[in-house]
Amino acid sequence: MEHAEDNHRTKGLTRLTMACNERCPFCNVPAENYPRPTPPESELTEQLQDFFDSAAQTLTISGGEPTLLRRRLLSLVRRAVDGGIPSVELQTNAVLIDVAYAEALAEAGLTSAFVSLLSDKAALHDHLAGLSGAFPRCLAGIDALVAAGISVTLNPVIASATQERVVDYVRFVARRLPAVRSISLSAVQPHGRAANNLDLLPDYGVLARQLPAAREVAQEAGITVLNPYCGLPLCVGWSDDLERCVEAAEARDGGWRAQPGIDNQGNKSHGAVCAPCVLRPWCGGAWHAYWQHRDGAGIAAPAARVPPWRAGASASPWQSVVSAPGGLTDAHRSTIQSAKTPTVWLWTDRLTRADVVPLLSSRCTAVGLEVTADGLASGARPDWLRPLRALLRGGCVAHLAVRRPLRSADRLALAALAERLGVAGVDVLPARRGA
Ligand SMILES: C[S@@+](CC[C@H](N)C(=O)[O-])C[C@H]1O[C@@H](n2cnc3c(N)ncnc32)[C@H](O)[C@@H]1O
Ligand code: SF4
Repeated sequence: MEHAEDNHRTKGLTRLTMACNERCPFCNVPAENYPRPTPPESELTEQLQDFFDSAAQTLTISGGEPTLLRRRLLSLVRRAVDGGIPSVELQTNAVLIDVAYAEALAEAGLTSAFVSLLSDKAALHDHLAGLSGAFPRCLAGIDALVAAGISVTLNPVIASATQERVVDYVRFVARRLPAVRSISLSAVQPHGRAANNLDLLPDYGVLARQLPAAREVAQEAGITVLNPYCGLPLCVGWSDDLERCVEAAEARDGGWRAQPGIDNQGNKSHGAVCAPCVLRPWCGGAWHAYWQHRDGAGIAAPAARVPPWRAGASASPWQSVVSAPGGLTDAHRSTIQSAKTPTVWLWTDRLTRADVVPLLSSRCTAVGLEVTADGLASGARPDWLRPLRALLRGGCVAHLAVRRPLRSADRLALAALAERLGVAGVDVLPARRGA
């Protein structure tokens, strides 16, 4: 059973049928890509058994449109609930859900629904759903689900046609659907039909302006908004609310090097603007197609990493500095582990080979190393060279600092060595007082 695309590892996803009553031009799993739209019942039973055997807590039933198979869907929900799955979610466009069917779903044990309400404007919704008259039917479906006691999360899948209306969307939900408490603010990902239709991708520059205002309206209305797994780069309207970004939460909880959240199956990448970004360890970047098709428009680091010896290093809400003069101890490691920021600096003047494994298995993302450059010009090989190289290979970034007095030949040799290693910068600091 595949993982749900939007969340974490305690979820499983099954696609009841790939057939669909809508024709969304952005659909990431279009029916035409599946020669056999509906898997046989036996396959479903096998998947369900796999799911019971796993530790998953939530079963997401998706498609295609699962409500097309009305009886099979009810039976699947019932079997999942009877098998002890605490939470069963339906992904649906909701247009086929009336009061009686919503009640039947609730009776079968459905706990939540994830509904593609694509706009607050009927014409835009219908256009993006590829089905005329879909908007009022989708709203009626949501009303029926809510009335049956099923909790509803909305998914707008923001597209270029709706990018200017995110605030209006949230306002509309607050007014028209007051029982809906949650919106997953996803944006078109360039897969499936959308891969051949890249003009559907929203402009992140527009979203960077819309999102903070939309989040504010949501907060006033008591609606929880989420930046889901297939959502936006952290700098696109989310940098001050990382708690609600699934990628960031996964990177934080799963260990940023394990990268469950920021791996994105190799579909995302970082651009040159991301290199100094303080959020980079928790951010998956943007879809490859976004960099290519929109040239990364709207993506900009909210702040650069500040090496620990520079002013402001400890003031940033996005970085922590653990100072370890004389070298790393267990106490420093535990401080590193309790850090709650994307960038976590170790600031030290001593780095040994024994530090490499503990640091690479910790939350430390950046090393600020004070070194001496004495004799580098004459070929001296500093002790920190090998451990630093290993940390850089393991994904850490590094900045070096060297103190005056300093021979200019050694300074040049240090700069050349740093460049060869891929160190992000070298600062020359004043001599220590009394030195
Ligand atoms: C493929 S749909 C199937 C369920 C159902 N037919 C529906 O429309 O909600 C599953 C989820 O993926 C979302 N989705 C589809 N294409 C997408 C894309 N290109 N980018 C982001 N989300 C997408 C849908 O809005 C829906 O929430
Ligand atoms: S600049 Fe790059 S790394 Fe930083 S938040 Fe934006 S996309 Fe992510």
